[in-house]
Amino acid sequence: EKGTYPHYMLKEIDEQPLVMRKIIQAYQDINGDLAIDSDIVKAMNDADRIYIVACGTSYHAGLVGKQMIEQLAEIPVEVHVASEMGYNMPLLSKKPLFIFISQSGETADSRAVLVKVKELGYKAITITNVPGSTLSREADYTLLLHAGPEIAVASTKAYTAQIAVLSILASVVGKKADLDLVHELGIVANAMEVLCDSKEEFEKMAFEYFTVTRNAFFIGRALDYYVCLEGALKLKEISYIQAEGFAGGELKHGTIALIEDGTPIVALATQENVNWSIRGNVKEVVARGANPCIISMKGLDTNEDRFVIPEVHELLTPLVSVVPLQLLAYYAALHRDCDVDKPRNLAKSVTVE
Ligand code: M6R
Repeated sequence: EKGTYPHYMLKEIDEQPLVMRKIIQAYQDINGDLAIDSDIVKAMNDADRIYIVACGTSYHAGLVGKQMIEQLAEIPVEVHVASEMGYNMPLLSKKPLFIFISQSGETADSRAVLVKVKELGYKAITITNVPGSTLSREADYTLLLHAGPEIAVASTKAYTAQIAVLSILASVVGKKADLDLVHELGIVANAMEVLCDSKEEFEKMAFEYFTVTRNAFFIGRALDYYVCLEGALKLKEISYIQAEGFAGGELKHGTIALIEDGTPIVALATQENVNWSIRGNVKEVVARGANPCIISMKGLDTNEDRFVIPEVHELLTPLVSVVPLQLLAYYAALHRDCDVDKPRNLAKSVTVE
């Protein structure tokens, strides 16, 4: 039930801090340490390469998961769009392990790949919100999201839950002693709360940037780039503004031709090693008339930034930086009188290939 909320999407955005805390609890052992089923850890350690398979928002979570698994567990990872992989299987490594990410666990494109993977005799893990779903039943192992039912077509809390579970998986397999993930995810939950309490500001920003525009771009580098893909998907899905996410350095290789006077450009700046290069990319588009909206992280901020998010661990920034983008999309859709929870042409789960 959406209770006093006008839309499920807003309720689900607001639930994210609680979902983080539920996930921490669900994956803690009796000593309070994060733990993952030992068969899953063994399957990860036995693999020479991991193939993440997903669609839409879950694919975007997979891109973040790749960074986490490669950095913390030091296993190479490829991320594939399910509908492509089904018909165009890449050359697989000798000991592949597959991770399917799906909120619903019912997405037909992902299932078609899982069926092939099982025919080939390889092992698969499903990360899903729905116990007993098709992808969960047909995979060897399941990791649950504990996000509670997600009703709005635009996925929000499932995305952050997927990333949180992937971070736990990566850190348990990687056994990195210098990362206290329970503590860091707690900081993330608190930061999410601060963002959810800043709704008025995001409503104002959405009004300012997205009320009349036909298009919008999201730029970022490294992890921020992946969050930009998700921010753009959220905006186009529910507000029908044509929005695209780009790697900051890639715009000048073509897309910059689309920048006109007033084109909104949302830039994320949460990664220290690319902070100055993304700001350079913003200057390039501003010189062509773009209307910039820089969302940075505390410690990396400058006085040109439109919003500064609280500081969290560098690898966990997507969990936090996506929240402003979800809220911007939500308020943009409201300002444009769109049906937030049930956007045109879309269904909650896509059960046809
Ligand atoms: O249930 P799944 O995670 O497998 O769904 C995948 C996509 O269909 C889904 O994420 C879709 O992109 C959402 N509508 C995005 O908000």
